[in-house]
Amino acid sequence: MSETTWDPTSWQQRPARQQANYPSAEALNGVLEQLASLPPLVTSWEVESLKQQLAAAERGEAFLLQGGDCAENFADCSSPIITNKLKILLQMSLVLIHGLKRRVIRVGRIAGQYAKPRSADTETRDGVTLPSYRGDLINGPGFSAAERIPDPVRLLRGYGRAAMTLNFIRALSDCGFADLHHPENWDLEFVQHSPQAREYRKVVEDLSSSLRFLEILGGSHNPEIDRVRFFTSHEGLHLHYEQALTRRVPNREGWYNLSTHLPWIGFRTAELDGAHVEYFRGILNPVGVKVGAGMSADQVQALVETLDPDDEPGKLILIHRFGAAGIAAGLPPLIDAVQRMGRRVLWICDPMHGNTETTDSGYKTRRFDNILSELEQAFDIHRQQGSVLGGVHFELTGDDVTECIGGARGLDEAGLERAYKTQVDPRLNYEQAMEMAMAVVRKAGR
Ligand code: PEP
Ligand code: CO
Repeated sequence: MSETTWDPTSWQQRPARQQANYPSAEALNGVLEQLASLPPLVTSWEVESLKQQLAAAERGEAFLLQGGDCAENFADCSSPIITNKLKILLQMSLVLIHGLKRRVIRVGRIAGQYAKPRSADTETRDGVTLPSYRGDLINGPGFSAAERIPDPVRLLRGYGRAAMTLNFIRALSDCGFADLHHPENWDLEFVQHSPQAREYRKVVEDLSSSLRFLEILGGSHNPEIDRVRFFTSHEGLHLHYEQALTRRVPNREGWYNLSTHLPWIGFRTAELDGAHVEYFRGILNPVGVKVGAGMSADQVQALVETLDPDDEPGKLILIHRFGAAGIAAGLPPLIDAVQRMGRRVLWICDPMHGNTETTDSGYKTRRFDNILSELEQAFDIHRQQGSVLGGVHFELTGDDVTECIGGARGLDEAGLERAYKTQVDPRLNYEQAMEMAMAVVRKAGR
C-alpha cells in the first residue's frame, strides 16, 4: 500500500466506511470548496510541539490525558459547558502531575468531535425508516426526514463551532484561568460536596507550595511551568471534511490536518486497505488508532508500518479498548507484536468503549467498576511486558450527568434517569472522572 503515491484525495480510491450519503454531490462540493478556502483551526507549530510531548510520553516521561464527550453537539457550544470540560481536565491533570510526578499532556475530545460511526446505516420506528444520526456534523438527532437527511451546510457550521470553541479555549489559556497560581478558578461545585474533595484540596496545596518553592529558586516566573496548555483531538471520520482542512504550510514539506492537533482512526474504520488508513498515512500530525478485540497481531503490525513508516518519535498512539473481560487475553499479543518489530509507540488505554452495556430499562451505560478494572489491568499488563502505559482516554464531562453506574456516590440503575443527557455513549460525570484520576495515581504512582 505505502508504495503508491499519496495525496489528500487518494483515500477516495478506497472503500470508505461510515460516510454520510448526501442527496446532492453538487451541494456537498460547493461547501467543501468554501471549507478549503477558510483558514486552518490549528497551526503546524502546535502540532509539532504536541508530537514532541507525545514522544516524551512514549519514553515514560510524560502522561497523556485525553478526554471529553463521546460526541460534542452544536447546542453545547456555550461558555459553561466548555469551561466545565476544561476545568475537569485541569483538575484531573493536577491530580496526575502530583501523583505520577510526570508532566501531563492535556488533549480534549473537543472543538471538532462532531461525527460518529454507527452500527446501522438506518433506523426504523413505527414502520418509518430514516438514516441513523451520525453526529451534528452530518445530520440531526430528531426522528424526521428534515433532521436525518445529511445536510452539507452542517460541515460549515461544525467548522464554525470548532473555531468558536478553540477561540474560547485559547482566550482562557491566555488569561488568569490558565494560571497555575490560581487553581481556585477551576473549582467545580463538587469540590465542596464530593467524597474526594479533601484529597483534591491536599493535591492543590502541595502543588502550590512546590510552585512557590520553584519560584524562590528560579527567581522569576517560568511561563512553561505556570501556565497550562490544551490540545484538541477528534475522530477523523468524515473524510471529505478532513480533506478540506488538510493543508501545506510554508517552509515544510508535506501535509498537515489543520482541523485539529490529534486526529484518530476509530475502531470501525481501521481496516488496512480502507479509506481512513489511506488518508491518515499521509498527514504529518501525530495520529491515534483504536485497537481492540478481534484485531490480529499482523494487522496491528501492518498499521504501525503503514501509519508510522519512519518510526518517528511521538507519531503513533495505539489506543487499546478491549473491555474489562477481554484485556487480559487481548492486549499482551499486541504488545508482543509491536515489541517484535523493535518499535516504540505510545500506548494508551480507553477503558470506556469495551465496557458499554444496555440496562433493562434501555439506557446505554457503563459500570465504574468495569472501567476501573480495565484501567488497572492495563497498568499491570504493560508493566509485566516491559512496556509503558503512557496515557488514558476517557469519555467524560464537567457536568453533573448520570450516565455511568457506580463511583463513590453509588449511582445505581434507577438513578440514571435523573440527568441522562448523552445522544451517544455514556460519560463519566465530574465526580466519577476525578475519582478515576485518583485511581490512576493509586495504581501507577507507586
Ligand atoms: C469513540 O471514541 O467514541 C468510539 C466510537 O470509539 P471506538 O472507535 O473505539 O469504538
Ligand atoms: Co464513544
